[in-house]
Amino acid sequence: MSLLEVSDLSVTFSTPDGLLEAVRGLSFSLEAGKTLGIVGESGSGKSVATQTIMGLTQNVRITGTALFEGVDLLTLSRSELRKVRGSQIAMIFQDPLSSLHPFYRVGWQIVEMIREHEDVSKDAARARAIDLLRSVGISQPDVRIDNYPYQFSGGMRQRAMIAMAMALNPKILIADEPTTALDVTVQAQVLEVMERMQQEFGTAIILITHDLGVVADIADDVLVMYAGRAVETADRRTTFYEQHHPYTKGLLESLPAIDTDERLKPITGSPPSLLRLPAGCSFRPRCPYVMDRCAEEPPLRPIDDAGLHRSACWLPTDVTGTGEAAERRRREASEAGSGTGVGSGIDALRRREA
Ligand SMILES: Nc1ncnc2c1ncn2[C@@H]1O[C@H](COP(=O)(O)OP(=O)(O)OP(=O)(O)O)[C@@H](O)[C@H]1O
Ligand code: SF4
Ligand SMILES: [Mg+2]
Repeated sequence: MSLLEVSDLSVTFSTPDGLLEAVRGLSFSLEAGKTLGIVGESGSGKSVATQTIMGLTQNVRITGTALFEGVDLLTLSRSELRKVRGSQIAMIFQDPLSSLHPFYRVGWQIVEMIREHEDVSKDAARARAIDLLRSVGISQPDVRIDNYPYQFSGGMRQRAMIAMAMALNPKILIADEPTTALDVTVQAQVLEVMERMQQEFGTAIILITHDLGVVADIADDVLVMYAGRAVETADRRTTFYEQHHPYTKGLLESLPAIDTDERLKPITGSPPSLLRLPAGCSFRPRCPYVMDRCAEEPPLRPIDDAGLHRSACWLPTDVTGTGEAAERRRREASEAGSGTGVGSGIDALRRREA
């Protein structure tokens, strides 16, 4: 059994404008010691999904299950969840100040966090906090431990937050956009620290980001979200070289080129409002390969024989990758599937050729 097994998770907010389904039928699993990258544009449901698993969303309707070591986190009481948070599953956020209290010394906060969950002396907890600050690359940790968060740079605060998250040796670390506010060099350093901690402690990581480039180095598996749904899941290599869903392809093509901040080819348009989702495939208004069949919502279906690569797109399963040949076949399939009213593009192609 996986360490974390999320099945058919849906999260609905009741807003003054109507019901907003922020997460729709999301399923994924996380193995011990592995890293899952969750990628998608702003508003795709990445944070709501993970915060719901941690019991941090309020006034929402939740369906589905989230089994952590066989126990459904979605059925736990607040106090039971509080015990899981921090000690078993830790979270770090984009803004370190949402985890680090500005009025208390960094070290004191780590010490308190350790002592809240474990019966250890102040001195022992302080020694451990110093060790942790050292292992996340903070120099002079025995001095820095008595600094306030404002005395730390952004990158140092992020490292301190990782130290705090790792203090109780959690089985899962959920890192929600941990490097977005940092410059590229510090970003790389922070990711490196996370990876090192993972190797040392065997922690499984869920890394949430809107930037596929960030998961390129660190993720074992990638889950791409669009408008609250998983639209593609695959291992990292497949995601980068043999992706199937046009949205994943768009995210890859919009990555900045090396040595420049210029986006290569941004995806046109913007994500739909979750209050008024388009009928059928939610990527349809932005998709260059739209076919008649896309008026029907595609299920997340296996693309490879092993069933490990899955995509929610009606394009033929064997059209993957970003190369010229793949592009030509995508176009052909799209043309063949448009205006014919027949099933998938590949079916239409075969009919034409017959
Ligand atoms: N408390 C809330 N009430 C109503 N809608 C909410 C609430 N929290 C989030 N949402 C909506 O749920 C959707 C998903 O939000 P979420 O924060 O998960 O996006 P995200 O993928 O994490 O985006 P980002 O990359 O910007 O962090 C958005 O449309 C958001 O407006
Ligand atoms: S199902 Fe259709 S609209 Fe949706 S991504 Fe695939 S080709 Fe594009
Ligand atoms: Mg978010």
